Parts: sequence; structure tokens; C-alpha cells
Amino acid sequence: MKFQIFLIISQQFLYFASSACVDETRTPITIGKIQPCPFYDNKPVCCRQDNVDQMISNYRSIDATFGQDGGGCDICGANLKRFWCIYTCDPDQTNFMKYTGRANVTDPANKNKLIEVQLVSLTTKPQVACEVYSSCSRTSFVNQVSAMQSPGGFFNFLGEQAITQGQQFITFEFSDYDSMIMDDTWMCNHKSNITTVDDKGVIHYWDQYGYEIKQQCGCNTCEESCDANQILYKPTGVLYGFETSYVLFTWLFVILFALGITIIRKYQQNKKAIENLDIGLITS
Ligand SMILES: *[C@@H]1O[C@H](CO)[C@@H](O)[C@H](O)[C@H]1NC(C)=O
Ligand SMILES: *[C@@H]1O[C@H](CO)[C@@H](O)[C@H](O)[C@H]1NC(C)=O
Repeated sequence: MKFQIFLIISQQFLYFASSACVDETRTPITIGKIQPCPFYDNKPVCCRQDNVDQMISNYRSIDATFGQDGGGCDICGANLKRFWCIYTCDPDQTNFMKYTGRANVTDPANKNKLIEVQLVSLTTKPQVACEVYSSCSRTSFVNQVSAMQSPGGFFNFLGEQAITQGQQFITFEFSDYDSMIMDDTWMCNHKSNITTVDDKGVIHYWDQYGYEIKQQCGCNTCEESCDANQILYKPTGVLYGFETSYVLFTWLFVILFALGITIIRKYQQNKKAIENLDIGLITS
């Protein structure tokens, strides 16, 4: 029995050696079912239960603003949810993101206030940024915010939403190397053939990562293509001065993305407890 435990521990050790969380106080562990990120169920992840709880509530905002319920497109919502799940939970986070220091920035929700934030740099492939942006670019929310009229502007806008409640400011880099892996992104006009039938005989459509696609996107919420070579980066908001519409919209919808990793300080204190938890999981 002892020998077996040793074997399991050494395998875990090898695994940890090649994958890492951006929060150095964490290692990827299995936390069971992850409702907002079904494709990570029972896999080792860098997120913890409090991150999961935050995602559950933030993802309601995604549905309300980018999804069908908000005059948008459910495939856009599903793509964004998967994107933030990878950001928050991926066991290989250090491959595509890093903490780059701390800074005092203007609070998007109150421009007279400075907030001290953790600076986070996240690298995505231009193609991935383009695909996710395409699935969202015609939604009414994106249409109304001038900062989101390019893939780069779109992601930087989302990154700034983490300032107020996540105390993180995420900047995006676009590169084919050392970047986030997000394969098989559906375009907004994709017709799902993955179905389930509920007790009442109603058919539900899903994407291949476990997100429900309640309704197909209509012509006016769907753009079929995006040119990955177009200008991907357009500085927005906080660090570059304000636009009235931007401030207004941020104030109206303080949408919470990417609380993810956060709560760093809390986990620094709990480091010991987490290490003990790891051992508990492995040996039980
Ligand atoms: C932010 O401002 C506070 C208060 O003025 C200061 O104590 C802190 O060191 C500043 N942080 C950074 C990263 O500049
Ligand atoms: C859905 O369509 C894809 C490609 O068109 C096919 O590979 C896949 O097997 C289909 N899945 C189901 C459940 O029919």
C-alpha cells in the first residue's frame, strides 16, 4: 500500500514538473465537477472552488449581454465562457500568461478613484482572437461600445472589466508562440448537431464543450469571417484616457470576467492548507 502511494505521488510530481499555475502558490489539482467549465470536469486545474463560484455568477452576465437573451448569439457566449475557463483553470497557465507586476490604475467604474491591481499579460493566437471576436462582433452589446470594434479592442475591453472587482488588469498579446490553446472554435453560424432530449421531449442543442446553444445566431448577430491580419490591437480605456460611451457602459454593466486567478493573497496564506489537501486527495 505504501509503495502504491509512493508511485502515485511520484507520478503527480512528474506531472507538476511540466505544468504550472501562474499563481505560484498553486499546483494543478483535481477539484471534481466544474459546472461553468464542463470540459474540465475531473481534470487537474489551477482554479479552486471560489473561482468556480465566481464564474457561475459572471457567466450569467455573459448570457445576459453576449448571449441570445441579450440580443446576442449563444455561440459567442459559449466561446467567451470557454475562453475564461482556460484563463482561470488551465493547468498549463504559465505557458501563455504571466504576472507582470502591480500598478495603480483608474477604476473604470469611478474615474476619480485609483485601484491597485495585479497586472496580467495573456498571449493568444491572432487566429483564436479573431474567431472568438467574429462570433461576437455583431451582437448588440459589442456594437454599442466603440472600444470593441476590433479583436484587440474587444479583448482589451474585456480585460479591463477585471479591474474593479478582480483587482486584475489583463493586457493581451497576440502571437502564435507561447499562446493559449483554444481549438475548434465554432463560428457563429455553426449548426450544432449535438442534441439531448429532456423529460418533456424538448430538444436541446450543445456545443462540443458542453455549453448549451439555445438558439442559432441570426444573420444580424453573426459575422462569418474575420481577417487575422487586421489591426488587432487598439488601446482602450483606462490607461489611455476615456471615452464617454465606454465609461457609461462599463458603469451600467460592470461585468465580471476573469476573476479567475485572483484572491492571490488569500491563497498565499492558505498555501500550507492546499499542500495538505493535495496529499489528502492523493492518498485517499
Ligand atoms: C498605489 O498607491 C498606494 C497609495 O498611494 C501606494 O501605497 C502603493 O505603493 C501604490 N502601488 C503601486 C504599485 O504603485
Ligand atoms: C456532427 O457533425 C460532425 C461534422 O459534420 C460529425 O463529425 C459528427 O460525427 C456529428 N455528430 C453527431 C453527434 O452527429
